[in-house]
Amino acid sequence: MLKYKQEIKAFYELPISDYVEPVLYQIILEAGTPWRDYYQFKVKEVNNVILDRDPFFKWLSSHYEFKAGICRLPMDTCYDWHKDSDRDVSISMLLNNKNHHSHCLFSLDRNIKEGITNNFIELEYKPNRRYVFNNQVDHTVLNFDTGYRYQLTLEFKEKFTYDNFLIFLEKNKKKWIRKLENIEHVSL
Ligand SMILES: [Fe+2]
Repeated sequence: MLKYKQEIKAFYELPISDYVEPVLYQIILEAGTPWRDYYQFKVKEVNNVILDRDPFFKWLSSHYEFKAGICRLPMDTCYDWHKDSDRDVSISMLLNNKNHHSHCLFSLDRNIKEGITNNFIELEYKPNRRYVFNNQVDHTVLNFDTGYRYQLTLEFKEKFTYDNFLIFLEKNKKKWIRKLENIEHVSL
């Protein structure tokens, strides 16, 4: 229970359908994809028209403007502990397959305790699942794999906190969950 309480402060798995968008995998696999520098990641923007094919993202874009991209981290690389400088909340999904070996860790007590140790919890990405990500909790990424790590990330134009975003989702839950259920029902 304690672990769950810590997790919910750092990330939240969205209770919606798996997200599988072939264009995202084309971007990753294409040799000619122009990756640009972004906070020491490499990133490729994803057009909102692509995201709008998904019912949840389409619903979300009718309320808030956002932009999305794929972040690429090389093999044997860690992205050091940090809080994001310009965003409080984002939506995140790992695009690698389940054999991929990387870790995304959060620490709720870093810089609070004296010394150089801190506790951590892991966001264990499930394939094709989307997570609300608290960018203001210290986090780090370690890529142990022999290939790149690819992460879809979506950030909002409007600045609001992780807690406020979860409240917004909770308040409107019936709208977006019902909408998805309808879509799924139609496709059966
Ligand atoms: Fe970050």
